[in-house]
Order: sequence, then C-alpha cells, then structure tokens
Amino acid sequence: MKETSQRLAPTTIALHWIVGLFFIVLLAVGFYMERNEVYALYPLHKSFGAIVFVLAILRLLWRLGKGFPPAASNYAAWERGLARIVQWVLLIGTILFPLSGLVMSAMGGNGIAVFGVELFPMNPDPANPGKNMPIDKAMAGNARAMHGLLLWVMLGALALHVAGALKHHLLDGDGTLRRMLGRTL
Ligand code: HEM
Repeated sequence: MKETSQRLAPTTIALHWIVGLFFIVLLAVGFYMERNEVYALYPLHKSFGAIVFVLAILRLLWRLGKGFPPAASNYAAWERGLARIVQWVLLIGTILFPLSGLVMSAMGGNGIAVFGVELFPMNPDPANPGKNMPIDKAMAGNARAMHGLLLWVMLGALALHVAGALKHHLLDGDGTLRRMLGRTL
C-alpha cells in the first residue's frame, strides 16, 4: 500500500505503536530497576529489550524500503526538518539502545537469555561460585556508557517527538496524529 498525506500503511502503524510502547515501558522499568536494584526485573528487561531490538531492525528496513510518507499537512520547512532528524534519532536509537544493553550483558559475563532461552552463555567466575566474570571488561564498560548516554538522548528525542505530535493535533488541528492512529483523514 502506498502511503499518502491521508493514510499510513497498517505495517507502519503497527510497528510504530508496538516498538514505541515497548520502548517506553523498557525505559521506565530500566530506570526503576537500576535505581532500586530490583534484580528480579533484569531478565524481563533483557528479554523484552532483545525483542525490541529485532522489531526495531525490521522497522528500520521497512522505513528504508518505503521511504518516509509525505507530511500530513503543509507545515514549515524547519519543523519538517526537525521532525525528520528526531525520527531518525528514534529509529536508530531503538536499535542501538537495546544493542548496547545486550553487549553490556554478554561482555560483562552475565549472558543473554530471552524468556529463559539462552542465546549467549554466562561466564561463571571459578574463584567466586554463583558470580560471573567479564569476558571483555573494556567492551562491557563502553557498552554501559553508551546505554547510559543513549538514555538521555532518547528521552530528549522522545520529549520533542511527543510535543510535536501534540502540537500538530491540538494547535495546528491537522491529521498527523490521527493518521498514526489508523484513521483515514
Ligand atoms: C505517546 C507516544 C508517541 C506518540 C504520540 C507518537 C506519535 C507519532 C506520530 C503522530 C507520528 C507521525 C509523524 C508524521 O506523520 O510525520 C510518529 C512517527 C514516528 N514515531 Fe512516534 N509517537 C510516540 C512514541 C514513539 C516512540 C516511543 C518512538 C521510538 C522510540 C517513536 C518513533 C517514531 C518514528 C521513528 C516515527 C517516523 C515514522 C515511522 O517510521 O513510523 N514514536 N509518531
């Protein structure tokens, strides 16, 4: 289906809301479990992170294959440019953010398991039974730093993105948000 200023493809809408909502929940849970050291949530966070990683790659491929849809209304060139930059940050960030988490976990020796299915093994520390040891400490550290940095980049991009969507809907009264909600304008 060709995307127009009136209508978005169902795949665009489904991928947007599935990746977007998973991503927002992962941000909130990640923040909470880190601050409060709730280790029981880590396996769930990693499992959903791995799922978002795969879906975000599919989404990027979909967007690259289809190109961006034409704007829903005739808004200023600077606004269109800013929206496009923010959308690219979100598209790439939804891949790099979980990827950095997965690398951090794997190289930190804690392995990767998706709902109990092991994709990358743990690295037990023979000197400390029950504990793991890093496979590559420097790489795990870099991935951790990237995960921390991307948190703020993504929060900033998301704030701009949601503010833009609300501005279109409430102030401009155009169909940008309605189109993403599956309505034909
Ligand atoms: C309450 C949350 C959100 C709202 C209200 C919202 C709203 C929208 C709207 C209205 C569009 C269409 C823009 C246009 O037609 O030019 C859009 C596109 C987009 N949104 Fe969101 N969004 C939300 C959350 C997210 C999240 C969490 C992400 C990713 C982390 C995201 C990533 C994108 C991307 C990459 C696009 C570009 C179009 C595409 O590739 O599907 N959005 N969003």
